[in-house]
Amino acid sequence: MDWIVVARMIHVIAVVLWIGGVAMVTLVLIPIFNTMENDADGLRLFHAIESQFATQARITTFLTALSGLTMLHLTHGWSRFTDPSNWWLHGMVLIWSLFTIMLFVIEPFILPRVVKKMRAASTKKIFPAMLLLHRVLLAGSLITLAGGVAGAHGWSF
Ligand code: HEM
Repeated sequence: MDWIVVARMIHVIAVVLWIGGVAMVTLVLIPIFNTMENDADGLRLFHAIESQFATQARITTFLTALSGLTMLHLTHGWSRFTDPSNWWLHGMVLIWSLFTIMLFVIEPFILPRVVKKMRAASTKKIFPAMLLLHRVLLAGSLITLAGGVAGAHGWSF
């Protein structure tokens, strides 16, 4: 069995589930909540939906890193980090790190406290801020995805 192919399959499936979910939250959910007359209950509902997604995202980010590191190990590819044309590899690690901090630190430990303290008036500011943050992360993920697919199949920029 070719373990690199197995790792690549797991990597792509995990990335599809994870970044696909991020796209759904960014392009569908937050815009809906952003246009609604939200109060603290609206924010709590959004937080409940996102924390449900966070569970699958924690599993898929773990599988993404495990399979990515396995590919690097099996191909002895660590030195590729020193080649600037493999910028997309750095991009993958950066995107993975940002989401890992969000999913394992901010979402379980910081966000619930913020939501609890939030007063109805201040919820108006939170969805535009969340939308901006998610858009930046989604754009970074898509650029990395494009660079990763092109780079893995021989294109260099
Ligand atoms: C710790 C984090 C990660 C590591 C170590 C890692 C590592 C790798 C490696 C070694 C490859 C194979 C490259 C090649 O065959 O030349 C790869 C491919 C790929 N990775 Fe990652 N990756 C990580 C995170 C991510 C993230 C966050 C994304 C999405 C935003 C991503 C998307 C992809 C894609 C689309 C491919 C190309 C698959 C293909 O077309 O064959 N990876 N990754």
